Amino acid sequence: MQIIGVIGAGLMGNGIAHVSALAGYDVILSDVALDRAEAAKATVAKNLGRGVAKGAVTQADADAALARIALTTDNAAFADADLVIEAATENEAVKRAIFASLKLKPEALLATNTSSISITGLAAATDRPDRFCGLHFFNPVPLMTLVEIIPGLATSPETTAAMQAFAARIGKTAILAADAPAFIVNRILCPMLNEAICALGDGVGSVVDIDAGLKLGANHPMGPLTLADFVGLDTLLSIMRVMQAGTGDPKYRPAPLLVKYVEAGWFGRKSGRGFYDYSGPEPVPTR
Ligand SMILES: NC(=O)c1ccc[n+]([C@@H]2O[C@H](COP(=O)([O-])OP(=O)(O)OC[C@H]3O[C@@H](n4cnc5c(N)ncnc54)[C@H](O)[C@@H]3O)[C@@H](O)[C@H]2O)c1
Repeated sequence: MQIIGVIGAGLMGNGIAHVSALAGYDVILSDVALDRAEAAKATVAKNLGRGVAKGAVTQADADAALARIALTTDNAAFADADLVIEAATENEAVKRAIFASLKLKPEALLATNTSSISITGLAAATDRPDRFCGLHFFNPVPLMTLVEIIPGLATSPETTAAMQAFAARIGKTAILAADAPAFIVNRILCPMLNEAICALGDGVGSVVDIDAGLKLGANHPMGPLTLADFVGLDTLLSIMRVMQAGTGDPKYRPAPLLVKYVEAGWFGRKSGRGFYDYSGPEPVPTR
């Protein structure tokens, strides 16, 4: 495996391109417009520069990694790719259209970074369900060491093994998850964040006390409301809804306060307000 294609140069795509290029792969990064791909490459350059400043990467390795990232808006550029990782917008129709447009070499592997869409269902929209797999990275990709590998119903054992080898080469620890709503990490993490919001809505504790409770009482590095703001409250709500719809289990009911915050446009850090207000130099709790 030498050429990695990455489709979608957003938050996750730039990180996947970064870690792949740093591991020595030639990377082709695509987006719908060239300026988005260029912005992603600029982000990779900035993040590699941080790695150099911290002494984690040499300047020579950072320069070589950046030089290995080619940009495109044309899926024909993936003709020679050995593995293509789709990290485009979380929308099933968008992903299906991308898969329909790909003309990969027969032996190429294809993966999706989806957080919530059925791997088995997406595989059926490709010309290679046996060589298709879920490859779920975590944000920010260069720093988070986990990747979830999610075989679909038709994924071959050879494909899963190749994904494990790829994950190891880019320095990630891989875990295997079944193709069930939210896989492993979000299945466990998101209901915990949702429960923290239920506790806040029920008046069980303040934002500060709930966050301090889990940090000091459960040794979590970050309080659940801080983490929910970081993940994005809209994203958290959408994952809870996927779990509720996918399992039919009422235990995944989104917290009413979470629904209200999303209705208000209070999405957390990215919108400047969630359970904390981020407009000043330090986050200020809002309840
Ligand atoms: N953000 C996270 O924390 C996170 C974590 C794990 C997985 N994911 C998944 O990764 C994927 C990407 O998420 P993101 O947060 O990077 O989103 P994002 O919105 O930052 O980036 C998506 C990019 O895809 C591009 N795109 C849309 N249609 C395209 C097409 N036809 N061809 C090429 N590019 C196209 C968009 O222009 C955009 O730049 C989603 O499936 C998401 O669920 C996200």
